[in-house]
Amino acid sequence: MVDPEDLAREFERAFGRSPRLYRAPGRVNLIGEHTDYNDGFVMPMALDRSTWVAAAPRDDRTIVARSREYGETMTIDAGTQRPQRPQRRHWVDYVRGVSAVLSDVARPFHPSTSSGRREIRGADLLIASDVPIGAGLSSSAALEVACGYALLDMANRPIDLVQRARACQRAEHEYAGTRCGLMDQMIACYGREGHALMLDTRTLERRWLPLPSTLRVLVCNTMVKHQLASGEYNARRADCEAGVRVLAQRFPGIRALRDATLAQLDAVRGELSDQIYRRCGHVIAENARVEAAARALGDADFETFGRLMDDSHRSLRDDYEVSCAELDAMVAIARGLGCVYGARMTGGGFGGCAIAVVDASAVDRASREIEKRYESASGLRPDVWVCSAGEGVSAWRLAEALHHGEALHHGGHGGRGGQIL
Ligand code: GLA
Repeated sequence: MVDPEDLAREFERAFGRSPRLYRAPGRVNLIGEHTDYNDGFVMPMALDRSTWVAAAPRDDRTIVARSREYGETMTIDAGTQRPQRPQRRHWVDYVRGVSAVLSDVARPFHPSTSSGRREIRGADLLIASDVPIGAGLSSSAALEVACGYALLDMANRPIDLVQRARACQRAEHEYAGTRCGLMDQMIACYGREGHALMLDTRTLERRWLPLPSTLRVLVCNTMVKHQLASGEYNARRADCEAGVRVLAQRFPGIRALRDATLAQLDAVRGELSDQIYRRCGHVIAENARVEAAARALGDADFETFGRLMDDSHRSLRDDYEVSCAELDAMVAIARGLGCVYGARMTGGGFGGCAIAVVDASAVDRASREIEKRYESASGLRPDVWVCSAGEGVSAWRLAEALHHGEALHHGGHGGRGGQIL
């Protein structure tokens, strides 16, 4: 785990002055997969693991970014820059993307000033993460949101959390080449301890659902990551858009799959390829599952909640085709345990993590069994851990904390609405 005081000391050694610290969490999604770029519903929770950025402003327009995990230091310009082509998905591209997009988002700060806005300044950044990288837990959104917060804070720029989430999503589209939805960036901003977030990705209406103390969420990392995930992701999105074009011709009210019913999809089945029909069917049914899952959670009906998770996994495996053999094995193993209410892959797919919702009284036994059985089935040692829902992005004023021997937590914006910095 990242120790904030250690990180601050490491920053002081590397850059010769005291930093401010910022952190943003990774996430798991309980249900509602591949619905967020279809204006649908999602139910993520923020992890209790974060990407941390220690930062101090510079007098020039240069960003010197150092990654502890990668052992690399990169220098970029803080201004607007063109994305690299082809996209490399290197960690520094997320920093570059966020600083470029934020430099581009015009928003008056002092309307009387000639430029009308405050520029993103140069900065020294030291980045460290305890969100496993490339495991489908949104380490990239955590990096974007934490860096975005740091850069805006140092520029004294007021941008609310929704705008910040959107800016990070745009950075991901333009600088990493994944046409993602808004779920990961929103939960990194709006996570709330002990709660999942029911998010309507069309209206951005947010409802925090308390997670009962009798339930635990196990994160089960398959330890595999299959290539082509970004290309396949964009291909799924294109299939959904193709389906909407056909549906909209017959039913003019349909703007996104969010608006369609399975009956309407069946009515145009003859005009769709089998693949597009199955992709759209997944999204339409998954949206209904999220709403049903929110009701089940509210009623403490964990059997129903678990069954909806199982249905979601089957649909992602068979119709949306974003699972893989290792995820299917992990889910089947978890599901074979009596104390597990439901299990499914989480995130974009093609490797990464599954989650299992487990009765709290049996969580240690479940986690040991899953580890043992997955290792003997796959030959891979999985990483299985209990996660509790954490807070969204926040800043830490650590310079004072180091001198007073305590960490001063300030600006915990997680879940408290669209505050201004
Ligand atoms: C990735 C994307 C999200 C979402 C999920 C699938 O995590 O970043 O926007 O589409 O995949 O639900």
